[in-house]
Amino acid sequence: MGRSNGLASRQLARDGRTRERNPISHAIDVTRPSGARMYNWLLGGKDNYASDRRACAQLLKLAPSTRDLALTNRLFLKRVVRVLAEKCGVRQFLDHGSGLPTQDNVHQVAQRVDRSARVVYIDNDPTVLAHGRTLLDENDETAVIQADMTDTERIFGDKDVNGLIDFDRPVAALFVSVLHCLTDEEDPAGLVQRVAQRLAPGSFLVICQLTSDDARFRAEATEFMRQSTGRWGRVRERHEVDAFFHEMDVVPPGLMEVSKWLPDTELAPRQRSCEWVEYGGVGQTRQARV
Ligand SMILES: C[S@@+](CC[C@H](N)C(=O)[O-])C[C@H]1O[C@@H](n2cnc3c(N)ncnc32)[C@H](O)[C@@H]1O
Repeated sequence: MGRSNGLASRQLARDGRTRERNPISHAIDVTRPSGARMYNWLLGGKDNYASDRRACAQLLKLAPSTRDLALTNRLFLKRVVRVLAEKCGVRQFLDHGSGLPTQDNVHQVAQRVDRSARVVYIDNDPTVLAHGRTLLDENDETAVIQADMTDTERIFGDKDVNGLIDFDRPVAALFVSVLHCLTDEEDPAGLVQRVAQRLAPGSFLVICQLTSDDARFRAEATEFMRQSTGRWGRVRERHEVDAFFHEMDVVPPGLMEVSKWLPDTELAPRQRSCEWVEYGGVGQTRQARV
């Protein structure tokens, strides 16, 4: 089935506006904190600078649970990729906002299940591209591209993406801990829908983002991240994340704080305090391909 011209031109116009608003930077600015490098520090990584560490120290005063939150989020990412590969037979992954390479990246987890599993990493941070290329140089089944995740036309038109991913077969599109980086104006729900419409029926979307039930905390944390990194979205409420799964079947066990999603053991790590949590789960597309 072909996509209607009206929808296609609306999407092209929106992607064009995104490019104008969010030009990609190819230079690494170590003086300003970056979300990717702050997350790397929270996970215990070494690919970060003094500006990132200073911002993390301030963030931990505002939200002391953030280190636990990052670790439990990363465990969720690994678990969900393993479950999708092992139990659902997924062999292709598009990782939007992949972050800096750390231990057990998506391709390593998926290729432990099947050596031929293919993974494309997408991030707009130039540090991710630099470190990702080094890590992936010897793995023919993976690619890393520097792109704004909202630029769906660019990503789905990319030569490396099309060389690796067969869009006639199911794909898992990952949006793990990234949609809070987008403002409402950048339309995270629209992004998820655009991507879902381009995937083969039966594909999966993994979505979680930062949420809080406390309106004051939501406002403070959003302001802090915007001020620190220069560009950030919003801490949302859980019902707003539920809406991202519109027109998808939610895969059991459902949508929840991610450390509760199919934990490997009763003793799986949990946050010690919960100013904010990563909330989400997995959806499966059912619509005919457009
Ligand atoms: C908290 S990290 C999450 C990393 C990884 N998905 C995980 O869960 O372990 C958020 C990542 O999203 C990236 N990001 C933020 N906004 C983006 C955008 N508009 N396009 C592409 N990547 C983006 C950041 O650079 C960062 O690497």
